[in-house]
Amino acid sequence: MLVAPHGGRLVDRQFEGLEAEELIGGLRGCRSLTLNARERNDLEMIGNGAMSPMEGFMCSPDYHSVVDLMHLASGPLWSLPVVLSAKDGDPEVSPGEKVALVDTSGDIWGDMVVEEVFHADLDMEAEKTLGTQDPAHPGVAYLRSLSGHYIGGPVRSVRRRRTESFPNYRLDPKETRVLFRARGWNSVVAFQTRNPIHRAHEYIQKCAMEIVDGLLLHPLVGETQEGDIPAEVRMRCYEEILKDYYPSTRVAMSVFPAAMRYAGPREAVFHALLRKNYGCSHFIVGRDHAGVGSYYGTYDAQMIFDSFDPDQLGIVPLKFEHAFYCRKCDGMATSKTCAHDSEHHVFLAGKKVRAMLREGVMPPPEFTRPEIARILMEAAAQPAGNSNAGTGEGEGR
Ligand code: ADX
Repeated sequence: MLVAPHGGRLVDRQFEGLEAEELIGGLRGCRSLTLNARERNDLEMIGNGAMSPMEGFMCSPDYHSVVDLMHLASGPLWSLPVVLSAKDGDPEVSPGEKVALVDTSGDIWGDMVVEEVFHADLDMEAEKTLGTQDPAHPGVAYLRSLSGHYIGGPVRSVRRRRTESFPNYRLDPKETRVLFRARGWNSVVAFQTRNPIHRAHEYIQKCAMEIVDGLLLHPLVGETQEGDIPAEVRMRCYEEILKDYYPSTRVAMSVFPAAMRYAGPREAVFHALLRKNYGCSHFIVGRDHAGVGSYYGTYDAQMIFDSFDPDQLGIVPLKFEHAFYCRKCDGMATSKTCAHDSEHHVFLAGKKVRAMLREGVMPPPEFTRPEIARILMEAAAQPAGNSNAGTGEGEGR
């Protein structure tokens, strides 16, 4: 039996095909609110149940309860706000009004029945959810770009498969659950990542695979900050490594259509709860999960899980120490398994690897497999778009 969704029931407010056309047709004459990229991703994940039990963008009771206490007003654990911000140029909407939710090109992605328009103290939100008000933090910078007014209410979303990126890897929670059942998996470990796979990732994934039925590789493909490697390149790395180094019967890959918040500990919990909705029983939390710069301690994102009752969480965090290649052990290890001094350990800071890739120097095989290094070097050599190659490995990110 797969784990139950968060809150007990998988929300399904997503429409496609004829039903989606009807939904869109029914919005004729309605005013519209514009979604930014993060909000569009959030709408998709509310609609498809990845955000269960949430059925819409948060109103003030949920927002305050989540920011202050890490619970939805109705009780379940929830660690980050999921909100729709009022934008310049949006109409002034009032409770009870049905509105279309559109992207910046005016395409309709769903609708909302407005329940509340409320003011939020964004400095307070930053302090409590990100642990800082420093505008150099990408999550704080995002909050500073918002108006300070949020619009809450239940939503419905439209799915248009033909326009989706990574169409072969875009499974919603209903679909991953069907896949896991078809494979006979009861316990599934999810791996969240925003970086190209390297040896430490592979090591912790495979350690986890020893104790569960299957692995869900779940790379995040929503917005990341400048300097993180584009999702297309990361997916190519995964396709390459899956050819030769993983047993195909024990691994599934699908994309996670969320934006990075860089919220460290609170985002680790958010990542875990959403993966539970996809049907995963276990979740990998390694070093500095969802971290950026030096805002969080290396293991803060692991320790936060200790403050919750396992039943509230409903997904088991699998915590891994900082992993590295040890020349004396002649293999991957952590401080839990290696007896040797750090002089024998191969560890490359993200900045260093980025510089190597830019200069056309291949990162060593102890850090990343040559097949992957080649893809990263090619991408780094591209003139536009893909040139912001980094590795995200540890320090310097
Ligand atoms: S994250 O923002 O998605 O956390 P990244 O893709 O680098 O960034 O990490 C994916 C997962 O691997 C996270 O759980 C992270 O903590 C873990 N991780 C990354 N590098 C290491 C490492 N060297 N040792 C242990 N865990 C790691």
